Amino acid sequence: MNTAIYPGSFDPITNGHLDLIERGSRLVDKLIVAILKNEEKRVLFSIDERTEMLREAVGRFPNVEIASFNGLLVDFAAQSGAQVILRGIRAISDYEYELQMALMNRRLRPRIETVFLMSGEAYSFISSRLVKEVIGLGGNISGLVPPFVEQRLKERLLVK
Ligand code: PNS
Repeated sequence: MNTAIYPGSFDPITNGHLDLIERGSRLVDKLIVAILKNEEKRVLFSIDERTEMLREAVGRFPNVEIASFNGLLVDFAAQSGAQVILRGIRAISDYEYELQMALMNRRLRPRIETVFLMSGEAYSFISSRLVKEVIGLGGNISGLVPPFVEQRLKERLLVK
């Protein structure tokens, strides 16, 4: 069985992530969306909240699972039986960071391959960080995240 891991912070999931999950899920038997549990990183949504939002967003894809992990991504991939790490590249600016991570991960575990998908053109400017910033300042983010995520963001950032 071909299994891939799609790792990230997903704080929160955007339509760019969803596009990648949908396309990635067609390439493998099983796709595990893995949320990094990083205590040091300041996040808006807890692991439980991010897991719940991801579950709701990917419910229509039967071969997609949600998990969370601590420690090295390659170790989690190996434990999960994944041979592939899936990442998206939006623009050249993503390339350097992604190349560095892919090469480090290959050095740590050479049998695990990183596979990149180019973001859909409609999503190449979307990031969780910008979505949070825009909605926090009263801007319109409809179409950039699933409607229920937009609602959660409004509750968290606008209702005081
Ligand atoms: O969506 P993000 O926040 O850019 O995802 C970054 C992520 C989770 C892929 C990366 O930080 C990661 O893999 N962290 C786990 C720790 C690890 O394995 N570090 C070495 C990477 S070379």
